[in-house]
Amino acid sequence: MTGWLVAAFLGVACVLLGGRVLTDRARRKQRGVFGPWPLARIPLEALDPVFAAGPHGPTVATEVSFIGRGPMTVPGGTSDAEAWILAVLARRATTMFEFGTCTGKTAYLWARNASAGSRVVTITLAPSQQHQYVKSGKDSQSDTDFALRESAFETFVYTGTDVASGVEQLYGDSKTFDEGPYHDWADLVFVDGSHARSYVESDSAKAMRIVKPGGLVLWHDYAGPRHAPGVFGALNALAATVPLQHVGGTTFAVWRRPRGAPSAQLVE
Ligand SMILES: C[S@@+](CC[C@H](N)C(=O)[O-])C[C@H]1O[C@@H](n2cnc3c(N)ncnc32)[C@H](O)[C@@H]1O
Repeated sequence: MTGWLVAAFLGVACVLLGGRVLTDRARRKQRGVFGPWPLARIPLEALDPVFAAGPHGPTVATEVSFIGRGPMTVPGGTSDAEAWILAVLARRATTMFEFGTCTGKTAYLWARNASAGSRVVTITLAPSQQHQYVKSGKDSQSDTDFALRESAFETFVYTGTDVASGVEQLYGDSKTFDEGPYHDWADLVFVDGSHARSYVESDSAKAMRIVKPGGLVLWHDYAGPRHAPGVFGALNALAATVPLQHVGGTTFAVWRRPRGAPSAQLVE
């Protein structure tokens, strides 16, 4: 009897361990256990040729002013690789819009690296506005809790710096935000507000109207169903009608608006 119990215990342990190994491997390789994630994966240089490596790796064309995070944990933060990519892209943009300011690091890197006269607009939910947040039935509790926990900032990395005048800070709930004045306005849009599904859907629709023809929308945290389920689910669904891509080695999903596509035809 004891022998059977030990054998059963070992069998269950092996199955659990095997499952864990497969899941970890899939996460490392940015794919599902049973197949690739739905968004087509592209290499970084396909996003913008400026990232094409030279004989020594990234070239001086990708040099930027930068604040790394190293081993530190930063609320809502991008990885160092992602922050560098966002900063490089800002060098070619003059109008930039961000959903979700948090510490203001991306807004700062954009304002710091963009050319003189560029404009950065960023919207966030202030701590005193948390009651404006509207959870929908399709939103996971963990995504919702995260969004509210990160709505904790009223001063930002750019506050008091010499680039602060290039940043317009908007406060409010992104779902009720009227993006009309920004239609067809931005070279670059970063969708990184609440990761709850209803918010990703709403922010994405707005982002695709804010970006100008030829401009780029980037979403943060496309990283599988466990990491931010609202982002993963909303973007996989959106990819059925819009050719979203995933930049390998990052958690960026991206879409470049075709030149000549009228915004009214995008998403509604
Ligand atoms: C992941 S953090 C953003 C990180 C930032 N983009 C960066 O690169 O450093 C998410 C941000 O979205 C904001 N947010 C969450 N829910 C929101 C809502 N309903 N409307 C507007 N902003 C929201 C949070 O306050 C937080 O600042």
